[in-house]
Amino acid sequence: MLSHLQEVISREKRITIMQQKPHVLWLTGLSGSGKSTLASALEMALIEKGFKVYLLDGDLVRKGLNKDLSFSAVDRSENIRRTGEVCKLFNDAGLVVITAFISPFRADRDLARSLFPADDFSEVFVNAPIETCEKRDVKGLYEKAKKGIIPEFTGVTSPYEIPLNPEVILNTDKETETESLSILLTHIIPRISLTNESC
Ligand code: ADX
Repeated sequence: MLSHLQEVISREKRITIMQQKPHVLWLTGLSGSGKSTLASALEMALIEKGFKVYLLDGDLVRKGLNKDLSFSAVDRSENIRRTGEVCKLFNDAGLVVITAFISPFRADRDLARSLFPADDFSEVFVNAPIETCEKRDVKGLYEKAKKGIIPEFTGVTSPYEIPLNPEVILNTDKETETESLSILLTHIIPRISLTNESC
């Protein structure tokens, strides 16, 4: 009888079954920088190409798994720690995982990165100046933060530590959505394909 601790399905076997290499694409940036929009467009584009992909978005994960967490520094760290662990499980299952979390603290992002082999994790800095994000203010949150209605708001009353060595930088104030998406596809496709597929 097999021990319940025995690794039954190896990583290689999983890659053969899934016909792709697992990867975590970790999008980080201010609220309103374009993370969710790009993550969702990327998920769709990859699924259309036949890849098995799952998107974890901060707004949604905070409604379920992490609904007990606030936006204090300690709770944000816990939010990212749990998300990293979920990514590890999905990655182990052979999926390509895209995350869209502000993830403002470098140490938390580095902790998430440390859970994966170097080739299986990419940090994507979705960069837009705070002024641009404030102008976009898609959810009206910057206005509320400035009025003090929302405390500890990233970029206003809570810090954002920019990535030092991200694999990809998107400048969403200068690029069109199509251009940013194309940069992401060019980065990810060779890393998840079994053959020398290009985008
Ligand atoms: S993180 O900092 O812990 O990584 P996360 O990505 O999960 O944040 O959630 C960010 C989303 O929560 C924002 O897009 C926004 O809609 C909402 N939000 C509510 N309060 C805050 C706040 N104080 N700071 C940042 N985002 C907030």
